[in-house]
Amino acid sequence: MRDIHDYIEVSSDLIRRQSSSLLFDVYVKRTEKDFTKVFNKGDELDIARFDSYIAKGVTNYYVSQEDFEKYSQFVDLLIKKYVQSGDFAKSRDGLDVFNEMISLTTREMMLLGNINPRVVSNANLAVQTCVSTLVKGGGHKGLMRVISMMSSHDYQIKHSIMVSIFSIIVAKESGIVSELSLNHVGLGGFLHDVGISQIEFDPEEREFLNAKELQEVRRHPELGKRLLEGVKGIRQEVVDIVLQHHEQPNGAGYPNGLRGPEIYHLAKVVSIADVFSSLISKRPFRDPFTVKKALEIMRSESGRYDTKLFSSFADLLGKKK
Ligand SMILES: [Fe+2]
Ligand SMILES: [Fe+2]
Repeated sequence: MRDIHDYIEVSSDLIRRQSSSLLFDVYVKRTEKDFTKVFNKGDELDIARFDSYIAKGVTNYYVSQEDFEKYSQFVDLLIKKYVQSGDFAKSRDGLDVFNEMISLTTREMMLLGNINPRVVSNANLAVQTCVSTLVKGGGHKGLMRVISMMSSHDYQIKHSIMVSIFSIIVAKESGIVSELSLNHVGLGGFLHDVGISQIEFDPEEREFLNAKELQEVRRHPELGKRLLEGVKGIRQEVVDIVLQHHEQPNGAGYPNGLRGPEIYHLAKVVSIADVFSSLISKRPFRDPFTVKKALEIMRSESGRYDTKLFSSFADLLGKKK
């Protein structure tokens, strides 16, 4: 019997929209380790049967690891279609495609540490979409829906997109208007923890780490920098954000204990988005904090964040309530 990791959850909404014959086999999960094929590669999707499964509450569909590339190609075609037609975040269908694009890209980058030109270009596209949606204004709702659609995904996938979106919001609120800078901060936020893919265990699952594990985890900014350096299409600004997102203005951060002005401004932005996102997320060892409580906690950690950046972000969230 194959292991659970041989199967990858895919979007039922997108599969239902497959109009030509299926490029991949589709499975459902019977038990944690038992997957059954329900639709065959090469066949047209039997919509009536598919809908009857959905009506019975079968909502999670999977493709095998071997077919994953085919599934990614299928999603890439949909992405191209939506890019040509304009806005992802405005329609429900567009959001489904956008959501799946982010999930696949983050899965490859964050969980597998696989940084190739295709995922970099999809990551860029995802971030540019978020930036232009936010710059045009009125995009918060759509993007918050993207975040809520991510709730069933692995923490690291959800965390990456949340940090990306909140980084753009923090930056924009602090007065940064250049779309290029907003793209850098969004991509830096998206990739900030990419180095974690190189660590043997999953630190996000643990509430406490022993000294050796802590030392290992603290290598992730440096590991992320090394993964990204030399990748075609990645800007130095993004690499600097990844390397410095755990530095603190009071000098207590890592890896280099940089102080205030020594820290790259956009890394300070991502640091705020990073901590805020993790506080408002559910973790295996605690419930999520409310926005109000998360801001209170952060306010009490003076010296850890850039004061100006933090106040403009806190003011914005205060206004929204
Ligand atoms: Fe990190
Ligand atoms: Fe993080």
